[in-house]
Amino acid sequence: METKIFKIASIFENPDELQQAADILAQGGLVAFPTETVYGLGADGLNEEAVRAIYRAKGRPSDNPLILHICDTEMLPLLAREIPEAAVRLGLEFWPGPLTMVLPKTDRVPDAVSGGLDTVAIRFPNNLIARELIRRSGKPIAAPSANLSGSPSPTTAQHCIGDLMGRVQAIVDGGSCGVGLESTVISLVGEVPTVLRPGGITVEQLRAVLGEVRVDPAVTQPMEEGQKASSPGMKYKHYAPKAKVVLIDAAREAFIHYVNDRKDEGVFALCFSEDLSDLQTPAVCYGEQENPEDQARGLFSALRQLDDLGAQLVFAHCPVKDGIGLAVYNRLLRAAAFEVVTL
Ligand code: TXA
Ligand code: MG
Repeated sequence: METKIFKIASIFENPDELQQAADILAQGGLVAFPTETVYGLGADGLNEEAVRAIYRAKGRPSDNPLILHICDTEMLPLLAREIPEAAVRLGLEFWPGPLTMVLPKTDRVPDAVSGGLDTVAIRFPNNLIARELIRRSGKPIAAPSANLSGSPSPTTAQHCIGDLMGRVQAIVDGGSCGVGLESTVISLVGEVPTVLRPGGITVEQLRAVLGEVRVDPAVTQPMEEGQKASSPGMKYKHYAPKAKVVLIDAAREAFIHYVNDRKDEGVFALCFSEDLSDLQTPAVCYGEQENPEDQARGLFSALRQLDDLGAQLVFAHCPVKDGIGLAVYNRLLRAAAFEVVTL
């Protein structure tokens, strides 16, 4: 398949390219596009065939449901059977933005989107190119991250090109993503609102609006054999670079000693910029130590870079575990398949 690349500097400068991409979506095709979190691989979310094509292009397990992206709240009643008060409060505060809400679904949402569940995940993204694409296509757009299943989510069009060239109809190049990690997923179907995946909106921000908010244990702990996942995405090893990753929970000095003691061929550090000067192994930096937003923006690119460099064993310096740091920590835990050394 030929993949068209549309370079879109802004919705004002390239309306024709934007329209072509929207037309491909409206006709059932697949288009990778930027959002403020990561690039998404979009299809018409009400077209079962188009949605199935997403799973094929990504090689994604079909029981892992997709997020529907909307460009105004008018689309919401079409997709969600009930809109609880908590959803309204969160929407007013955080939409458009990096927050996904899991709500009871209507019959209009195909099983291919919900993975056979009775719920649907909905997000109103903030990125203008994303919003304009949705608006022009006239459909809610189903979009997982635009990577091959198992590899780190793409934060630039170049990452999408590497994974999806020849597998999708178009890739919209709209520059790099501001947040760099996927949206926060919160379920509003149980008694207590529950974070299923930490992301761009922090647990602290959610609690400030809703009061009590649970964090699903699978965010920071491996799931036990046979345990049912609240979010199917939790079961899969995600964000995995080809190298083996071990997360090192330690202060700067201890981290540097630990890594330097183990220097060998194929051993790399995934570290903060402050660590670089004293490390004796090759290293890839994913942000500044005191700046978790910077780490969030840099992490997925850094994981891809480690693969490109042929890293075999990666010691990753552990981030803080609150604020957006919790999301960075969650992605690193998964990249490391929960292997952590605490010093
Ligand atoms: O930032 C993002 O959310 C990006 C951009 C493109 O919007 N999208 C994204 O999609 O990360 P994806 O498919 O890679 O992750 C969606 C997550 C998965 O972990 C999935 O299991 C969960 O949301 N999910 C989707 N529908 C669900 C549902 N009905 N109940 C529970 N979890 C759900
Ligand atoms: Mg993903």
